[in-house]
Amino acid sequence: MKDQTVLVTGGAGYIGSHACLELLQAGFKVVVVDNLANSKVESLARVQKLAGKTLTFYQADIRDKQALTDIFAKETPDTVIHFAGLKAVGESCALPQLYYHNNVYGTLVLTEVMNAANVKQLVFSSSATVYGESASPQYSEHFPLGAINPYGRSKAMIEDILRDLSASDKLNNVEKPWKIALLRYFNPIGAHDSGMIGEDPNGIPNNLMPYVAQVAIGKLTQLSVFGDDYPTRDGTGIRDYIHVVDLVQGHIKAIAALNGEHFAEGECKAYNLGAGRGYSVLEIIDAFQRVTGKTIPYQMSPRRAGDLAECFANPALALAELNWQVEKDLDDMVNDTWNWQTKNPQGYQ
Ligand code: NAD
Ligand code: WQD
Repeated sequence: MKDQTVLVTGGAGYIGSHACLELLQAGFKVVVVDNLANSKVESLARVQKLAGKTLTFYQADIRDKQALTDIFAKETPDTVIHFAGLKAVGESCALPQLYYHNNVYGTLVLTEVMNAANVKQLVFSSSATVYGESASPQYSEHFPLGAINPYGRSKAMIEDILRDLSASDKLNNVEKPWKIALLRYFNPIGAHDSGMIGEDPNGIPNNLMPYVAQVAIGKLTQLSVFGDDYPTRDGTGIRDYIHVVDLVQGHIKAIAALNGEHFAEGECKAYNLGAGRGYSVLEIIDAFQRVTGKTIPYQMSPRRAGDLAECFANPALALAELNWQVEKDLDDMVNDTWNWQTKNPQGYQ
């Protein structure tokens, strides 16, 4: 398995760059396809420096079928990890066509090219966002889906497409059927412990952890806590934060599972990647202040539209079938975020 070539779409991005590093370190050959719409090629320069190994980079859009076909012909990958996508919830509400075109159509083109090249192993970046309302805050894979914004719906549509694709292979009795892992991420945060790669959001961050880090370093003046009247232990929203390095290890385990005998031919299966426990916004602020010694000024603000009170994973299936669970704790996540932020106050620029 170690000599296999993994083609990583969106490999220059936040999670993709961490995945490329872990893949190189695990002995895989790595080919990245990224249009740099939300990333900088510097991330990949740093990945190669950290790994002491090289990867192959193509600046291309996954919607460019000819470019993708040429790359598959040249590189003959064994497996694809598909990170490429746009991910800002607010932007997806303002520009839904862009999100459906980029994420859904992009995945259609990718899978058409994979089919033609007979590359049938895929690990897909899905999201806990695909889940609908639930009576329990701890989400299991069989819970009903029901995304509430265009970004989330683009992920849910892609999951449907991939499930249909697997089913069609069974129906058509094809010799080499698809094997697909849909990985539903909870809230990825943190950075590689070197501080050389990390999350480099464009403009003002939407997500809690990068916002807190930018307040701590003085780029932003104070944090707005979106809602203090939720039915949670301190009234603020609870989420399942997961260290990005733990998250990408889940992808390596998924590749191993796809190659193993327990993952049936023609299977398309969803796995939660989360820690299985949640932290509130105030607990995140407290941890950040304790670990970094920085004060985070904050003010209580109205709830943000579309936010749930509480959401965390049941990660039992990933443990049972992928042999994966998180290893890092909240202090690691805060420490590594702060290390990246202080070493790269302007991101990759
Ligand atoms: P990111 O924006 O840092 O990385 C995505 C990468 O895909 C970027 O480098 C971007 O340039 C590239 N890309 C986008 N559209 C492309 C296209 N059409 N062709 C080629 N490249 C394209 O985001 P991330 O946080 O690393 O997320 C990676 C994946 O994980 C995304 O699919 C995202 O939806 C999913 N996800 C992220 C989170 C999160 O909180 N970060 C949570 C759940 C799921
Ligand atoms: C976490 C908590 C906020 C910012 C989002 C996407 C989701 C997924 C991950 C891709 C919530 C609160 C936040 C701030 C705050 N991405 N908060 N002040 O909303 O759980 O998930 O990222 O798939 O699709 O929706 O993450 O980090 O934005 O918020 O109080 O300035 O922090 O209300 O309780 P979220 P988040």
